[in-house]
Amino acid sequence: MQRTVAPSMLSADFGHLDRDTRMIDRSAAEWVHIDVMDGVFVPNISFGFPVLKAIRRATSKLLDVHLMIVSPEKYVERFVEVGADLVTFHLEATQDPAECIARIRRAGARVGMSIKPATPVESLRRWLSEVDLVLVMSVEPGFGGQSFIEGSLSKIRELRAMADELGLATLIEVDGGISAANAREVFEAGAEVLVAGSAVFRAADPESEIRRILEA
Ligand code: DX5
Ligand code: ZN
Repeated sequence: MQRTVAPSMLSADFGHLDRDTRMIDRSAAEWVHIDVMDGVFVPNISFGFPVLKAIRRATSKLLDVHLMIVSPEKYVERFVEVGADLVTFHLEATQDPAECIARIRRAGARVGMSIKPATPVESLRRWLSEVDLVLVMSVEPGFGGQSFIEGSLSKIRELRAMADELGLATLIEVDGGISAANAREVFEAGAEVLVAGSAVFRAADPESEIRRILEA
């Protein structure tokens, strides 16, 4: 199975956004993960469109935008306009997932759907054939630097089995508490894309850390 690492810009140094984005651009990571928080869906506020535009200018890698905002359908087109290649929204954050999916597709991006740690995998069944990716949160969304919730491994396995059963090649991405120490078991559980924020940006050598996660 393919392996991808998506360093999370939430842990970057915002005083050196260009430098940190270019580091990812040079590295073995193929995706750049962007966490957008509104202070309503999660108890934290991160950044929005202008910051995304600046990141877009500094890399040609895939921009993986993770929306932790309520009513994402109101904003998805604008995220695609400023450079998102993939837009992931939370199933718990919208009354109308179908509308959200349709708007992201019409705007020309790939579609991801995410669930929080307490949301069962089964709630994704009816959407699985309509999205390109599912993002399993392995911490409570809102902050970087938390510990990986071990119960996420069985959710990843369950999701992989569900996709196989439905004959779908849906990508599985996992976000929260990932490091070189647990990356192997998360990949082996069935994930293809691992998000890593603090593990990458707190490392003395972030580029080698990305490689260590990729080759775990
Ligand atoms: C948390 C974000 C994550 C976060 C991961 O709500 O969705 O992407 O940046 O950070 P680490 O890798 O430090 O857990
Ligand atoms: Zn994220």
